[in-house]
Amino acid sequence: MKVAIIGQGYVGLTISAFAGEFFEVVGFDKNEKVVGQLNSGISHIEGVESSVLKRWIAAGRYRATSNGRDISDADLVVIAVPTPLSLDRKPDLAFIDAACRTIAENVNHPVLVINESTSYPGTLRNFIKPTIEKYGKKNFEHLYAISPERVDPGRGDFNQKNTPRLFSGLTSEASKLTHDFYSKFCDELVEVSSPEVAEAAKLFENTFRQVNIALVNEFAQIAHSLGISVYETLDAANTKPYGFMKFTPSAGVGGHCIPVDPTYLAAIAEEHGAPATFIRLANDVNLEMSKYVVDRVQADNGGTLQGKSVLVVGVAYKPNVADVRETSAELVIEHLRQRGAVVSWHDDLVGTWKGESSSVLAGAEITVVVTKHDSVKEANVISSAPYVFDTTGKIRGVHGL
Ligand SMILES: NC(=O)c1ccc[n+]([C@@H]2O[C@H](COP(=O)([O-])OP(=O)(O)OC[C@H]3O[C@@H](n4cnc5c(N)ncnc54)[C@H](O)[C@@H]3O)[C@@H](O)[C@H]2O)c1
Repeated sequence: MKVAIIGQGYVGLTISAFAGEFFEVVGFDKNEKVVGQLNSGISHIEGVESSVLKRWIAAGRYRATSNGRDISDADLVVIAVPTPLSLDRKPDLAFIDAACRTIAENVNHPVLVINESTSYPGTLRNFIKPTIEKYGKKNFEHLYAISPERVDPGRGDFNQKNTPRLFSGLTSEASKLTHDFYSKFCDELVEVSSPEVAEAAKLFENTFRQVNIALVNEFAQIAHSLGISVYETLDAANTKPYGFMKFTPSAGVGGHCIPVDPTYLAAIAEEHGAPATFIRLANDVNLEMSKYVVDRVQADNGGTLQGKSVLVVGVAYKPNVADVRETSAELVIEHLRQRGAVVSWHDDLVGTWKGESSSVLAGAEITVVVTKHDSVKEANVISSAPYVFDTTGKIRGVHGL
């Protein structure tokens, strides 16, 4: 069976690597540089080993392409393209629209189309199917299913194999074929009664995280105002064996998912006249954390940051990945610069970002830790400046939330 996977980013390449063991995989991506790299067996995604790609390439079971014609004889097509927010923070399905067009213009026989991109309930039924039909030939029908992706890049304990996967087809035949596909490389498949349930479950999972992160971020501010340790309090609460789940405070949330997906849920809720109060509020609290962190740093440093050299450690949105999408480091740096600080940053995993390069981890007046990769030594952070503010809770004996 030939599987075409549209989008070779975090999600698409990860599935390609798992599927390559069982199927012939064509990874379609509009980014020709990425395609060139992938065809030389070089992975740009944490968690996808280049050696695995090379193995599938050598066995004739993987190749990347930017040419739509290369997916024309696929039996199954997976959509794994970005689903961002527009400038006015509304769901932006332009990438899904383009992927639908690629499928419609190139696949001239009935196939199973599975969407893995995160979007609001109804996307498969009311957007993907009609869009492919709009752009394509009208003399046959594809099968359609959803199986939302749950991959957590950089995570070692859970992967495509041992993370249960939700799925649902628009028809029972689509559901059956979707089950057959994923059951090759996923241990547990959970069928739900409609694509809308699967789509909503994915959004609710990330909304659950967003709201709880906001709650603990607000609690960090309460604990500080009371003069008690947020970490000790959380550890104490976490001794309760039921009804509590520990989240830890931070400078905010980043990545493609938590800051974005809940807004998809809020948008569809509001379209249907339902409230999305928690989602909107949680978003605001998380966005405000960067300002709170900089306020604390400023207060501890004589009330002004004017002219002070500040080193931000970790600009990736989470540890051990090079992903800077929606990173809270960006807002922290913005607030620091607005207050006159001379800001540099250290993150060897990211290397270069927004035209700037990673600085050495030393010689600052103030260090603010936003993300701590495992490769960053605690002792080096502590010696990098006379004042260190840690937002991660991982550096002992310094200032922090
Ligand atoms: N990254 C995660 O941890 C994660 C987890 C679960 C779900 N998701 C969801 O999966 C989807 C994909 O996210 P991602 O992190 O893999 O994104 P990504 O940015 O890492 O990769 C997307 C890839 O799609 C390519 N692309 C964009 N438009 C295209 C088109 N029209 N045709 C072909 N290729 C195209 C881009 O060049 C890029 O390589 C999103 O909906 C996201 O919300 C992401």
